[in-house]
Amino acid sequence: MVIKNVSLDIVCGITSKLPDTGRPEIAFAGKSNVGKSSLINGLLNRKALARTSSQPGKTQTINFYNVNDFMYLVDLPGYGYAKVPETEKAKWGKMIERYLHTSQTLKAVFLLIDIRHDPSANDKLMYDWIVNNGYNPIIIATKLDKLKRSQVQKNIKAIKDGLKLRPGSKIIPFSAETKQGKDEIWALMDELTGA
Ligand code: GTP
Ligand code: MG
Repeated sequence: MVIKNVSLDIVCGITSKLPDTGRPEIAFAGKSNVGKSSLINGLLNRKALARTSSQPGKTQTINFYNVNDFMYLVDLPGYGYAKVPETEKAKWGKMIERYLHTSQTLKAVFLLIDIRHDPSANDKLMYDWIVNNGYNPIIIATKLDKLKRSQVQKNIKAIKDGLKLRPGSKIIPFSAETKQGKDEIWALMDELTGA
């Protein structure tokens, strides 16, 4: 898609009513600090539309980014951030679950995993959660630039095995630094949204 205009349209806190946008939505899930907001900026050719931070736990709301008044990219709160109290974590979990449950126009959920690390217990839970809500998660292996090229295939396999990816599931390596993987992700999103 040719990006013409983008804006942060809707921000939902824990108690907010979730919107019925009436437009195709693509959601991005993943643990805190994995690179969700950086991916969204990369996809939208913007440096700082989605707020990023080296401090985990930056995005604590569900943020809806309007793309060309045609579709929304949905930035979900990161999970697994140790410093957040359990009660707070449970609330975020519920909020994400509520979103996956209620969105009428959600076309796909991308699950982000740091390419350098094996999936965590929370990643596995999130993967299963997405599947149980009827979606086939598309995996983005983030921070590709941080890995030696010779390690890439091995680490992709470790992610596949760790999540027990279903056969035919997609896994796309991405770097917010080099933008490698961006075209492939857009091709997929165009297909999913009928752009
Ligand atoms: P929360 O909002 O806390 O859930 O985090 P997030 O998943 O939105 O992560 P964010 O995009 O804020 O990125 C976290 C940190 O990782 C920032 O310091 C980013 O600059 C860095 N980062 C993200 N993607 C990449 C990447 O592809 N390569 C490198 N080298 N750094 C990255
Ligand atoms: Mg974020």
